[in-house]
Amino acid sequence: MKILIVHGPNLNLLGKRNKQLYGEKTLDEINSMLQSHAVELGTDLGFLQSNSEGEIVDFVQRESPNAEGIIINPGALTHYGLSLRDALLDSNLPVIEVHLSNIYAREEFRQTSVIAPIAKAQVSGLGWRGYIAALQAMVTELRGTVWQ
Ligand code: DQA
Repeated sequence: MKILIVHGPNLNLLGKRNKQLYGEKTLDEINSMLQSHAVELGTDLGFLQSNSEGEIVDFVQRESPNAEGIIINPGALTHYGLSLRDALLDSNLPVIEVHLSNIYAREEFRQTSVIAPIAKAQVSGLGWRGYIAALQAMVTELRGTVWQ
């Protein structure tokens, strides 16, 4: 089983960027924690961080045929990234959307997600733990024990 882990624009700056909102952990630290959990859960992960929507679309198109699910923090693309949304939909894979901050407790423009309607679920406001929760839920989902 392989799950894609995608981080959108500006998430390469985690650990430096607005720590109050996004926490102290770097993206590498979050990815290593995900990797350790993936080993325990017996699944493979494929990682991408990109500041470019086109690069994320290319990655989803290229990698989704060999994957079973996608966990994505789309960053600001959450709010307007329609080509990203289309690529995720076209992948036909279950998608879990993750946000470190609670986007519903922030500016009005952040309270709309163009990804959420095509996602299986959204985790918003749990910090880095949201990625772990999403991974556990995705593996459970793919093994057929929830949402059926
Ligand atoms: C974010 C929320 C987005 O609104 C913002 O543009 C980000 C990070 C989050 O993880 O809370 O870059 O996706």
